[in-house]
Amino acid sequence: MSPALSPLAPVHAVLIAGMHRISFAEPWDEAAMAGLLAMPGAFGLLAADEAPLGFILCRMAADEAEVLTLLVLPPYRRSGLGGRLLAAACAQAASAGAARMFLEVAADNAAGLALYAARGFLPVGRRPRYYGGRIDALILEKYLGNIIPAAG
Ligand SMILES: CC(C)(COP(=O)(O)OP(=O)(O)OC[C@H]1O[C@@H](n2cnc3c(N)ncnc32)[C@H](O)[C@@H]1OP(=O)(O)O)[C@@H](O)C(=O)NCCC(=O)NCCS
Repeated sequence: MSPALSPLAPVHAVLIAGMHRISFAEPWDEAAMAGLLAMPGAFGLLAADEAPLGFILCRMAADEAEVLTLLVLPPYRRSGLGGRLLAAACAQAASAGAARMFLEVAADNAAGLALYAARGFLPVGRRPRYYGGRIDALILEKYLGNIIPAAG
């Protein structure tokens, strides 16, 4: 399977909100997605063949980037697409000058944790009871290069 990856745009708000509803217990609606897509520094990628399969939405601020959300629709999981979306977003952030990529993932999200560990993300923090007042969020980070050495 080698679906095309294409840039997310504001016109995709309805589509990605629908995909989010399928993948998350507390989904982000169309207005939330439209707001995120309109933020300065927002960028993302949609994976599709004849139909949409998954997407990643990120934001860049100064030399840091953040994954806001990532999903692959259930029938298409475990085919490498999540990893491909993540790698492509990291490459895009790095080429735009980001030194690191951050993200938050629920501490009980085995698939997400395994994917991020396999892609070189390391835990740097924890927000207790962040999801639904129950589940901790782990903050993960990956260095992308573009570090300017301290003088001296
Ligand atoms: C997390 C998610 C995006 C992974 O997408 P995917 O396309 O299945 O991921 P990949 O096929 O690229 O998997 C890459 C690696 O991640 C790990 N992984 C992925 N899903 C896994 C699972 N269910 N259990 C254990 N490891 C898993 C494996 O190491 C896998 O490599 P392998 O298949 O060679 O063993 C997908 O499961 C998803 O959309 N989940 C719901 C939304 C979500 O939780 N998003 C992340 C929130 S921060």
